[in-house]
Amino acid sequence: MPAIVIVGAQWGDEGKGKATDLLAGRIDFVVKFNGGNNAGHTVVVGDEKYALHLLPSGILTPGVTPVISNGVVIDLEVLFEELDALSARGVDVSKLKVSSHAHVITHYHRTLDKVTERFLGKRQLGTTGRGIGPTYADKINRVGIRIQDLFDENILRQKVEGALDIKNHLLVKVYNRRAITVDEIVEDLLSYRDRLAPMVTDTALLLSTALDEGKTVVFEGGQATMLDVDHGTYPFVTSSNATAGGASTGSGVAPWRLDTIVGIIKAYTTRVGSGPFPTELHDDSGEWLRQRGGEFGTTTGRPRRCGWFDVPIARYTTRINGVTDYVLTKLDVLTGLEQIPVCVAYDVDGTRWEEVPWSQSDFHHATPILENFPGWSEDISGARHFSDLPQNAQDYVLALEKMMGQRISVIGVGPGRDEVIVRHDLLDNGT
Ligand code: GDP
Ligand code: IMO
Ligand code: MG
Repeated sequence: MPAIVIVGAQWGDEGKGKATDLLAGRIDFVVKFNGGNNAGHTVVVGDEKYALHLLPSGILTPGVTPVISNGVVIDLEVLFEELDALSARGVDVSKLKVSSHAHVITHYHRTLDKVTERFLGKRQLGTTGRGIGPTYADKINRVGIRIQDLFDENILRQKVEGALDIKNHLLVKVYNRRAITVDEIVEDLLSYRDRLAPMVTDTALLLSTALDEGKTVVFEGGQATMLDVDHGTYPFVTSSNATAGGASTGSGVAPWRLDTIVGIIKAYTTRVGSGPFPTELHDDSGEWLRQRGGEFGTTTGRPRRCGWFDVPIARYTTRINGVTDYVLTKLDVLTGLEQIPVCVAYDVDGTRWEEVPWSQSDFHHATPILENFPGWSEDISGARHFSDLPQNAQDYVLALEKMMGQRISVIGVGPGRDEVIVRHDLLDNGT
C-alpha cells in the first residue's frame, strides 16, 4: 500500500508544502520526519494563505492524521502557537500525534544557535536561529531531552542538569552570556505537559500498523537533499537527514515500505543562507527571478539567493533519494524569458564535471556550463494539461526530464491548489 516520501531536490523551498497539500485529500496520514521549525511551507488554499513550520502541511486537509515522528526536533512553544493559530482559522488539529522519541528544543538550544553564529562571524552558516543544530548535536551526543522525559519529572531534572552542566560553562566563559538555571528549563517544559499528553504515542507502531491496514501515508520532508547533513553541501547544511533515507530512520517505518519517492524541484534554483551555489546569479536576472518568484523566506523573511536550474544537482538528487517521480514547480515564473539558461555540467578549474564534485573545495570553484533553451511569453497559469503549455514550455520540461533521469509527473503553474498539471498520478506508481 502506498507510502509516499516527499523530498526537496535542491536547497529547500521548492514547494514541498503545496505538493503534500495536493495529495492530502486522498491520504490518511501525513508525517513530518526531520527538522523542526526551521522549515517554512506556504500553502495557498483559495484566498487563504497558510505558513506552516513545525506541522506537516497535510494538517490543512480534514480527515488526515498529522504525525510528528521521532526524527523531528520540537520547540513546544512554537508547536502550541502554531496549533492555536490554525484552530483559530477553523482547521481541525485534534488528530495530531507526536512521537515519544522526538527531541525537544529548549531555550539553551536557541541561545546557543544564535551565539555560535555570531561567534563564527564571516564563517557563519546563516542558520534560521531556531536551535535546530544544537538540539541535534545533543541528540547525537546523548544529552538530549525527549518528549517522553516530560512525563518523568525526576528524569527530566537529571537530564536538564546534565545538559546544562557544560553548556553553562560555555555560555558564561566563552560567550559572555548569563547562566541558564535548571529550574527555569524544567518549569518551562512541564508547563506544556498536560496539553501534550493526549498527543504522545509510539508513532512508529502507529504508522506501521496503518500501512498494514492498507492506509496511505505521506512522509513530508523538511529542507532538502543539498541541505542534508550527510549528502548536502556540508558544513552549509541543516543538521538532519532530509533525504529519503531519513523518512525511514526518522519515522521507524522500514525502508522497503517506502514505495514512491517524489522529488520536488523548482524550474530554477534558490538557496537561503551561506554555502556554495554554482548557478547563483548576482545580476539583474537574479533579482528578476526573486521578484517574479516571490523568493523571500517563509521562516525568516530573508531574500533567497536565485540561480538557473542545475542538472548535475537534479541527477544527484535522483540517485541519492531514488526519486521515482518529480514535481516541477514554478514553471510559470519563467514566463517572459526569451532564453532560459540551464546548467548542464560544471567547469571546475578548467575541467568539465558532469556530476556534483565529491570535494567541497571543488564545488566552491564550480562554475556552470550553461545551455540555452527558448522561452515563451504566454501566460501558463491556466494550463491544466501538458498540451495546454506552449511548445517551448513543453520542450523545456521534456529536456529537463531527460537530463534528470526521472519522469516529471506534476508541473506547478501557480501557487494555488489547483494550479497544476498532473501527467502521472503520484498515488499510483504502477507497482
Ligand atoms: P517548501 O518549503 O518546499 O514547502 O516551499 P515554500 O513554501 O517555502 O516556498 C515555495 C513557494 O512557492 C510558496 O510561496 C508556494 O506558495 C509557491 N509555489 C509553489 N508551487 C508554485 C508554482 O508552481 N508556481 C508559483 N508561482 N508558486 C508556487
Ligand atoms: P524548507 O523545509 C531553505 C537552511 C538555513 C541555513 C541552513 C542551516 O522550508 O525547505 P538550520 O536552522 O537548519 O540549522 O540552518 O539550512 N535551511 C533552509 N533553507 N528551506 C528550509 O526549509 C530550510 N531549513 C534550513 O537557511 O542555510
Ligand atoms: Mg520553505
